[in-house]
Amino acid sequence: MVKPGTHVAVDAKGLSLAFREAFRCHPAGVAIVTADPGTGPIALTVSSLISVSAEPPLVALSLSQRSSTAGALMSAETVVIHLARFSDLELAQLAATSGADRFGPDVAWERLPTGEPRYTAIGTWFRARLRGTLPLEGATLVAAELLDGAVAPSGERPESDSLVYLDRRWHRLGAPDSADG
Ligand SMILES: Cc1cc2nc3c(=O)[nH]c(=O)nc-3n(C[C@H](O)[C@H](O)[C@H](O)COP(=O)(O)O)c2cc1C
Repeated sequence: MVKPGTHVAVDAKGLSLAFREAFRCHPAGVAIVTADPGTGPIALTVSSLISVSAEPPLVALSLSQRSSTAGALMSAETVVIHLARFSDLELAQLAATSGADRFGPDVAWERLPTGEPRYTAIGTWFRARLRGTLPLEGATLVAAELLDGAVAPSGERPESDSLVYLDRRWHRLGAPDSADG
């Protein structure tokens, strides 16, 4: 643990620890990626989703080699990327639980006309075509192009509060304390 107010230079040996410490304190949004690569519906919670470009709309995410679901996700042609809000916390936890039935009888989901599974409780989602992968040590960077989807209106209702993952905990982020960006 680094003492507040101090800066610690990091050498190559301490880099891995510093990396974990730095990203532990770096808040991330939460998304759930679903697909059916031909073997049935699969889902995975990710905090690595980033927007890459708006024209055409491209996103990227990192899939860990340790994930038992990641390989199947990468073998799908298309996926559905759901942007989770705080009200979607239970689904995000479910889709992060190894071995859990992510499409059980208590889970609201449907198949899109194009066949991909979609969680119907999540209002903001995009269908996306996988465009390319960059295999790296421990993880693969995946790029995807958005094809269609829906966006839930934002606002001051509790269900529109953001879901943020920080310091291995889930957080609710509402409207106050914002600054123009
Ligand atoms: C908040 C959160 C964010 C996560 N982000 C990623 C991610 O970006 N990439 C990834 O491969 N796994 C990520 N995981 C791990 C997977 O969601 C999942 O827990 C793990 O792969 C084990 O499930 P599996 O055996 O079905 O793969 C994240 C987990 C949590 C809780």
